[in-house]
This record gives sequence, structure tokens and C-alpha cells, in this order.
Amino acid sequence: MEDDSVGHVEILKRRSFGETRRRDAWWGQPVAVFLGLSAFIVYSTWAAFQGVEYTFGPYLSPFYAPELFGDSPHSWFGPKPGLWPSWMPFSPALLILWAPGGFRFTCYYYRGAYYKAFAADPLACTVGEGRKSYRGEGSFPFILQNLHRYFLYIALVFIALLAFDVWKAMWFTDPATGQAAFGIGVGTLVLLTNVILLGTYTLSCHSLRHLLGGRRDEASKAAAAFVAYRCVSCINRRHMLWAWMSLCSVGFSDLYVRLCAKGIWVDWRIL
Ligand code: FES
Repeated sequence: MEDDSVGHVEILKRRSFGETRRRDAWWGQPVAVFLGLSAFIVYSTWAAFQGVEYTFGPYLSPFYAPELFGDSPHSWFGPKPGLWPSWMPFSPALLILWAPGGFRFTCYYYRGAYYKAFAADPLACTVGEGRKSYRGEGSFPFILQNLHRYFLYIALVFIALLAFDVWKAMWFTDPATGQAAFGIGVGTLVLLTNVILLGTYTLSCHSLRHLLGGRRDEASKAAAAFVAYRCVSCINRRHMLWAWMSLCSVGFSDLYVRLCAKGIWVDWRIL
């Protein structure tokens, strides 16, 4: 009886930070997430501040789409506003990247991943934590993570705009006539793949599933809503996969356009 009680106490004893009986490489995933996200943040920040070489022919880097103000033919409202403070760096990407950045930052999957990878909080299942209490995300600043649903609405608009950019990436100016002619280049396929992966990531969002499921998160009896709920639930199971694939594709799309604009890569025409 006494032995049992001693055993009980041992099981309930709080582990010290990093203490565990796990023998597997539990630290591998947080390290991989740390390296992957760090690489993306460094590259995307660098690319966003460049403000040049973000277009090539009909291609527009997704980091700069939509281009609200800028010098390229893709700009909606013309060049940089005259009221822009001269001391403040200008890049079309800085005007819009808060939206997709906020969407990813507040994503349920990424939250779990970067809390572990960047704050070691928690480190991993059955691994001792440094913190002694848990207050969840109910107070400032973590309560702002609830903005995710609103970032989702904006992200859906961005997906539609990026899809339109793919359509525009199929029209190349003929140097002889100056007329736009239909064609497909490798860059068109890069941008198409990117919008498919970004769209799948966005449509697999947990918040969209809850929105379609209503308050009880159950499939609606209306046929269209039922089909939509089932589709979103299906791709939602691989949300982590879509998160990483779309992150890689959006970074690669910018790199592709940038290296073509620099003349380092050649954009091969397929059609
Ligand atoms: Fe990841 Fe919404 S939960 S995008």
C-alpha cells in the first residue's frame, strides 16, 4: 500500500524543464520548424524591402500582389503616393503583406508549431515545461489570435486576386506587334501551382470548417453547405502539409520572378 502511494507520488511529480523519459528524437520537429520558419521570415523580409525586380513580363511576385501602388504595369493606383513620408522606406509589398502574414501568424497549426519552436512552450508532449501555470489565449496579447477568422475573409479575397494574376500571367506581349498573345511559360505554371497550394491551405482552415459547420460544428442539412463542409473537413486533415507546401511555393514564386527579372534564370516558354 505504501509502495503504491510512493509510486503515485513519483508519477505526479512535476518534471523540470526539458526532463523526459522519451527516447525518440522529440526535439527534431521543433528544430525543423524553427529553421524552416526562420529561413522564410528572413527571406520574405528581405524580399519585401527590395521594392524592385518583383515583376517579369506578365508575372507578378505573390509577395507584391495585389500591387496597390508601385511603378510596374501591375499597379492598381499608379506610383507611390506623393504624401508618402520621404524618411519611410517604400515597397508595394509592405502595403499588403500584413494580411497573408497575419493569416499565417494566427493559424491554429502555426501557433502550436511556433509556440514550441520559438518559445519552447510547451517543448513537446511529456517533456517538462519551464512555465508553472497555464492561462491559455484568453488575455492580451494572445487574445488577438482570435482575429484569425477575419484574416481568413481577407485571405479568401487574396486567393481570388492571385488566381486572376495567373490568368494575366498567360498573356505575353509580342515584341514585334506590341499586342498581348496567349502563352504559357514555366513562370505561369509556378504561379498556378502557388495559387493552388495557397488556395488549398486557405480552404483547409479550421475557422472555415467551423464557419460552415455553424455553432455546433456539424454539417448543415442544406445540400450545398453539407458538401462544402465535407470538402473542407477532408482537406483540413492535411492542414499542416498544405501550410508548409504553400509556404515553400509562395517563397519560390517570388524567387523565380526575381531571378528571371535579374536575368539569372531564363523563363522557358511552353506554349
Ligand atoms: Fe490554419 Fe486557419 S487554422 S489557416
